[in-house]
Amino acid sequence: MSPEEFYGKAYPQLRLAQERLLALISSYPEKEDAVSGIRQIESCCSRIKSPESMAGKLRRMGLSPTAYNALTQVHDALGLRVICAFTDDIYRVARWLEKQEELEVIKIKDYLAFPKPNGYRSYHMIIKVREGAGAEVTAEIQIRTIALDFWASLEHQIKYKRSVHSESLIRQELKRCADEIASVDLSMQAIRDFILEPPPSPSESSESEPYGRMP
Ligand code: GTP
Ligand code: MG
Repeated sequence: MSPEEFYGKAYPQLRLAQERLLALISSYPEKEDAVSGIRQIESCCSRIKSPESMAGKLRRMGLSPTAYNALTQVHDALGLRVICAFTDDIYRVARWLEKQEELEVIKIKDYLAFPKPNGYRSYHMIIKVREGAGAEVTAEIQIRTIALDFWASLEHQIKYKRSVHSESLIRQELKRCADEIASVDLSMQAIRDFILEPPPSPSESSESEPYGRMP
């Protein structure tokens, strides 16, 4: 079944909301910093959940796989993923999205502050388009770093493999990698902060900190 057939009359609204949210995110005021030239948003992608995946999710929730349920009982028929270079940028982008009058924030899930037991880290926002094109459509916006996205894509592939040999060992290793990635992200953030704010000149720095504030 095609998405048009499954979502029916709601499909054009989903597409409008998708275009609108992508346009909104691409209007994010990037302050390309002069020192590193590093962009805050690396990339953004989006998808409308496939009929098969949506029907499976609804059935797992004990609901019949109808377009009505897909749009009222589930919030991620439309999903967007924003990939940032650094952890700080995730929160910057999230704060900016919260301020957009065309969006209503319905729910926040901060899996950066509160990672899942398997190590999954990401910042999720469930939003609703307030009015105009795509009005009333809800969407899930996932915001995470490049490194966290790398982990999530591998973990996702493994989750949907029917049988994985040595599953508990693999889970344990993935959790270890997730924690290492979080630690590397912190170090990368500290390096960037250091590039942007060099240490004070030698005359300003104290005797006890000969190299200034190293990350
Ligand atoms: P669903 O997982 O979609 O049924 O919704 P939920 O209400 O449990 O929300 P949650 O925020 O936990 O997950 C929403 C989406 O985040 C998922 O559909 C995935 O895209 C992503 N996600 C959540 N947990 C994980 C995880 O452990 N691993 C990976 N790779 N992705 C995850
Ligand atoms: Mg889930």
